[in-house]
Amino acid sequence: MFHYKVNGELELRLFELRHAEILFALVEQNRDRLRAWLSWVDDSQSSQDTEKFIINSLQEFTSERGFAAGIWFHNQLVGSIGLHDISWSDRKATIGYWLSETVEGKGIMTNACRAIINYAFQELKLHRMTIRVQPENHRSRAIPERLGFQKEGILRQDNWMYDRYIDLIVYGLLADEWQCDRAGSLGIVVETAR
Ligand SMILES: CC(C)(COP(=O)(O)OP(=O)(O)OC[C@H]1O[C@@H](n2cnc3c(N)ncnc32)[C@H](O)[C@@H]1OP(=O)(O)O)[C@@H](O)C(=O)NCCC(=O)NCCS
Repeated sequence: MFHYKVNGELELRLFELRHAEILFALVEQNRDRLRAWLSWVDDSQSSQDTEKFIINSLQEFTSERGFAAGIWFHNQLVGSIGLHDISWSDRKATIGYWLSETVEGKGIMTNACRAIINYAFQELKLHRMTIRVQPENHRSRAIPERLGFQKEGILRQDNWMYDRYIDLIVYGLLADEWQCDRAGSLGIVVETAR
Protein backbone atom coordinates (compact mmCIF):
# COMPACT_ATOMS: atom_id res chain seq x y z
CA MET A 1 0.00 0.00 0.00
CA PHE A 2 1.05 3.59 -0.58
CA HIS A 3 1.05 5.72 2.58
CA TYR A 4 2.88 9.06 2.71
CA LYS A 5 3.03 11.22 5.85
CA VAL A 6 3.48 14.75 4.48
CA ASN A 7 3.63 16.38 7.92
CA GLY A 8 1.95 16.12 11.33
CA GLU A 9 -1.50 17.01 9.98
CA LEU A 10 -1.48 15.73 6.39
CA GLU A 11 -1.25 12.17 5.00
CA LEU A 12 -1.82 10.55 1.60
CA ARG A 13 -3.19 7.00 1.74
CA LEU A 14 -3.93 4.71 -1.15
CA PHE A 15 -7.71 4.33 -1.53
CA GLU A 16 -9.07 0.98 -0.40
CA LEU A 17 -12.59 -0.43 -0.85
CA ARG A 18 -13.46 0.37 2.77
CA HIS A 19 -13.13 4.09 1.90
CA ALA A 20 -15.88 3.97 -0.76
CA GLU A 21 -18.72 5.34 1.37
CA ILE A 22 -16.87 8.32 2.83
CA LEU A 23 -15.32 9.11 -0.53
CA PHE A 24 -18.72 9.05 -2.23
CA ALA A 25 -20.18 11.25 0.56
CA LEU A 26 -17.41 13.80 -0.05
CA VAL A 27 -18.14 13.81 -3.79
CA GLU A 28 -21.84 14.36 -2.99
CA GLN A 29 -21.04 17.32 -0.73
CA ASN A 30 -18.89 18.91 -3.45
CA ARG A 31 -20.74 17.69 -6.55
CA ASP A 32 -21.63 21.02 -8.16
CA ARG A 33 -18.23 22.66 -7.83
CA LEU A 34 -16.35 19.49 -8.88
CA ARG A 35 -18.62 19.15 -11.91
CA ALA A 36 -17.45 22.56 -13.14
CA TRP A 37 -13.89 21.29 -13.58
CA LEU A 38 -13.87 17.47 -13.67
CA SER A 39 -15.44 15.28 -16.36
CA TRP A 40 -16.11 12.11 -14.27
CA VAL A 41 -18.56 13.56 -11.74
CA ASP A 42 -21.80 12.45 -13.44
CA ASP A 43 -20.43 8.89 -13.56
CA SER A 44 -20.31 8.86 -9.76
CA GLN A 45 -23.95 8.37 -8.65
CA SER A 46 -23.59 5.84 -5.81
CA SER A 47 -21.01 4.31 -3.49
CA GLN A 48 -20.97 1.31 -5.87
CA ASP A 49 -19.63 3.65 -8.59
CA THR A 50 -17.01 4.80 -6.10
CA GLU A 51 -16.11 1.16 -5.40
CA LYS A 52 -15.53 0.67 -9.14
CA PHE A 53 -13.28 3.73 -9.18
CA ILE A 54 -11.28 2.34 -6.23
CA ILE A 55 -10.94 -1.10 -7.85
CA ASN A 56 -9.64 0.55 -11.05
CA SER A 57 -7.22 2.64 -8.99
CA LEU A 58 -5.92 -0.44 -7.17
CA GLN A 59 -5.43 -2.20 -10.52
CA GLU A 60 -3.57 0.88 -11.74
CA PHE A 61 -1.34 0.62 -8.66
CA THR A 62 -0.60 -3.11 -8.92
CA SER A 63 0.25 -2.79 -12.61
CA GLU A 64 2.51 0.22 -11.85
CA ARG A 65 0.56 2.60 -14.09
CA GLY A 66 -0.24 5.03 -11.24
CA PHE A 67 -2.54 5.26 -8.22
CA ALA A 68 -5.18 7.35 -6.47
CA ALA A 69 -4.74 8.35 -2.85
CA GLY A 70 -7.01 9.95 -0.29
CA ILE A 71 -5.88 13.22 1.24
CA TRP A 72 -6.32 12.97 5.02
CA PHE A 73 -6.14 16.19 7.04
CA HIS A 74 -6.29 15.77 10.82
CA ASN A 75 -7.40 12.19 10.10
CA GLN A 76 -10.41 13.30 8.01
CA LEU A 77 -10.74 12.49 4.30
CA VAL A 78 -10.74 15.87 2.52
CA GLY A 79 -9.89 15.09 -1.10
CA SER A 80 -8.11 12.96 -3.65
CA ILE A 81 -4.84 13.07 -5.55
CA GLY A 82 -3.67 10.74 -8.28
CA LEU A 83 -0.51 9.95 -10.18
CA HIS A 84 -1.66 8.66 -13.56
CA ASP A 85 -0.54 7.52 -17.00
CA ILE A 86 2.93 6.51 -15.86
CA SER A 87 5.06 5.82 -18.93
CA TRP A 88 8.15 3.87 -17.90
CA SER A 89 9.71 4.23 -21.36
CA ASP A 90 9.48 8.04 -21.20
CA ARG A 91 9.65 8.14 -17.37
CA LYS A 92 6.75 10.57 -17.16
CA ALA A 93 3.36 10.83 -15.45
CA THR A 94 0.54 13.25 -14.81
CA ILE A 95 -1.13 14.47 -11.58
CA GLY A 96 -4.85 15.04 -10.96
CA TYR A 97 -6.56 16.29 -7.80
CA TRP A 98 -9.57 17.74 -6.01
CA LEU A 99 -10.26 19.02 -2.53
CA SER A 100 -13.34 19.60 -0.37
CA GLU A 101 -14.44 23.22 -0.33
CA THR A 102 -14.32 23.18 3.49
CA VAL A 103 -10.50 22.98 3.51
CA GLU A 104 -9.57 25.18 0.56
CA GLY A 105 -7.11 28.00 1.11
CA LYS A 106 -4.75 26.23 3.53
CA GLY A 107 -2.09 24.99 1.09
CA ILE A 108 -3.20 21.36 1.49
CA MET A 109 -3.20 20.58 -2.23
CA THR A 110 0.07 22.38 -2.91
CA ASN A 111 1.66 20.29 -0.16
CA ALA A 112 0.02 17.08 -1.40
CA CYS A 113 1.31 17.74 -4.93
CA ARG A 114 4.76 18.49 -3.52
CA ALA A 115 4.73 15.10 -1.80
CA ILE A 116 3.64 13.26 -4.96
CA ILE A 117 6.30 15.06 -7.01
CA ASN A 118 9.01 14.19 -4.47
CA TYR A 119 7.84 10.58 -4.54
CA ALA A 120 7.73 10.50 -8.36
CA PHE A 121 11.16 12.03 -8.86
CA GLN A 122 13.01 10.52 -5.91
CA GLU A 123 11.43 7.08 -5.40
CA LEU A 124 10.14 6.27 -8.88
CA LYS A 125 12.98 8.13 -10.66
CA LEU A 126 10.58 9.69 -13.15
CA HIS A 127 11.86 12.46 -15.41
CA ARG A 128 8.82 14.59 -16.17
CA MET A 129 5.52 15.48 -14.50
CA THR A 130 2.54 17.24 -16.03
CA ILE A 131 -0.65 18.85 -14.70
CA ARG A 132 -3.51 19.71 -17.08
CA VAL A 133 -5.89 22.50 -16.12
CA GLN A 134 -8.74 24.43 -17.72
CA PRO A 135 -7.66 28.01 -18.50
CA GLU A 136 -10.50 29.43 -16.36
CA ASN A 137 -9.61 27.29 -13.30
CA HIS A 138 -7.47 29.88 -11.55
CA ARG A 139 -7.32 28.12 -8.17
CA SER A 140 -6.01 24.97 -9.84
CA ARG A 141 -3.59 26.82 -12.14
CA ALA A 142 -2.04 28.49 -9.08
CA ILE A 143 -0.82 25.09 -7.82
CA PRO A 144 1.62 24.17 -10.66
CA GLU A 145 2.59 27.83 -10.93
CA ARG A 146 3.40 27.93 -7.19
CA LEU A 147 5.46 24.75 -7.56
CA GLY A 148 7.56 26.02 -10.46
CA PHE A 149 5.97 24.15 -13.37
CA GLN A 150 6.28 25.79 -16.78
CA LYS A 151 3.22 26.56 -18.85
CA GLU A 152 4.05 24.58 -22.00
CA GLY A 153 1.01 25.13 -24.17
CA ILE A 154 -2.68 24.65 -24.75
CA LEU A 155 -4.27 21.38 -25.86
CA ARG A 156 -7.22 22.56 -27.92
CA GLN A 157 -10.55 20.84 -27.21
CA ASP A 158 -8.68 18.01 -25.47
CA ASN A 159 -11.41 16.94 -23.04
CA TRP A 160 -15.15 16.23 -23.39
CA MET A 161 -16.99 17.91 -20.48
CA TYR A 162 -20.60 16.65 -20.47
CA ASP A 163 -21.80 18.77 -23.39
CA ARG A 164 -18.77 20.41 -24.95
CA TYR A 165 -15.05 20.08 -25.65
CA ILE A 166 -12.74 22.16 -23.48
CA ASP A 167 -9.17 23.36 -23.86
CA LEU A 168 -6.52 22.37 -21.31
CA ILE A 169 -3.31 24.16 -20.37
CA VAL A 170 -0.38 21.76 -19.94
CA TYR A 171 2.03 22.57 -17.14
CA GLY A 172 5.29 20.58 -17.17
CA LEU A 173 8.11 20.04 -14.69
CA LEU A 174 11.40 18.18 -15.26
CA ALA A 175 13.27 16.34 -12.53
CA ASP A 176 16.31 18.59 -12.75
CA GLU A 177 14.09 21.69 -12.39
CA TRP A 178 12.69 20.45 -9.07
CA GLN A 179 14.58 22.64 -6.66
CA CYS A 180 15.08 21.92 -2.98
CA ASP A 181 13.33 25.10 -1.86
CA ARG A 182 10.19 24.07 -3.73
CA ALA A 183 10.52 20.44 -2.66
CA GLY A 184 10.31 21.54 0.98
CA SER A 185 10.54 18.95 3.71
CA LEU A 186 10.47 15.49 2.21
CA GLY A 187 7.85 13.80 4.36
CA ILE A 188 7.98 10.07 5.01
CA VAL A 189 6.97 7.23 2.75
CA VAL A 190 5.49 4.92 5.36
CA GLU A 191 4.75 1.97 3.12
CA THR A 192 4.75 1.25 -0.61
CA ALA A 193 4.63 -2.54 -0.80
CA ARG A 194 1.90 -4.09 -2.97
C1 LIG B 1 -8.05 23.17 -7.34
C2 LIG B 1 -8.11 23.08 -5.82
C3 LIG B 1 -7.53 21.75 -5.35
C4 LIG B 1 -7.31 24.23 -5.23
O1 LIG B 1 -7.46 24.24 -3.82
P1 LIG B 1 -6.71 25.36 -2.95
O2 LIG B 1 -7.12 25.19 -1.56
O3 LIG B 1 -6.85 26.68 -3.59
O4 LIG B 1 -5.18 24.93 -3.11
P2 LIG B 1 -4.17 24.71 -1.90
O5 LIG B 1 -4.75 23.70 -0.97
O6 LIG B 1 -2.85 24.45 -2.47
O7 LIG B 1 -4.22 26.11 -1.13
C5 LIG B 1 -3.71 27.29 -1.72
C6 LIG B 1 -4.26 28.46 -0.94
O8 LIG B 1 -3.85 28.32 0.42
C7 LIG B 1 -2.96 29.41 0.76
N1 LIG B 1 -1.93 28.82 1.60
C8 LIG B 1 -1.93 28.87 2.95
N2 LIG B 1 -0.87 28.19 3.42
C9 LIG B 1 -0.19 27.73 2.36
C10 LIG B 1 0.99 26.94 2.20
N3 LIG B 1 1.68 26.51 3.25
N4 LIG B 1 1.42 26.61 0.95
C11 LIG B 1 0.72 27.02 -0.13
N5 LIG B 1 -0.41 27.77 -0.05
C12 LIG B 1 -0.86 28.11 1.18
C13 LIG B 1 -2.51 29.96 -0.57
O9 LIG B 1 -2.16 31.34 -0.46
C14 LIG B 1 -3.75 29.78 -1.40
O10 LIG B 1 -4.72 30.71 -1.01
P3 LIG B 1 -5.39 31.74 -2.06
O11 LIG B 1 -6.14 30.91 -3.04
O12 LIG B 1 -6.24 32.57 -1.20
O13 LIG B 1 -4.23 32.43 -2.69
C15 LIG B 1 -9.59 23.19 -5.31
O14 LIG B 1 -10.06 24.49 -5.60
C16 LIG B 1 -10.51 22.19 -5.97
O15 LIG B 1 -10.55 21.02 -5.59
N6 LIG B 1 -11.31 22.63 -6.98
C17 LIG B 1 -12.31 21.80 -7.62
C18 LIG B 1 -11.72 20.64 -8.40
C19 LIG B 1 -10.62 21.06 -9.35
O16 LIG B 1 -10.65 22.12 -9.92
N7 LIG B 1 -9.62 20.16 -9.50
C20 LIG B 1 -8.50 20.42 -10.38
C21 LIG B 1 -8.81 20.11 -11.78
S1 LIG B 1 -7.37 20.43 -12.81
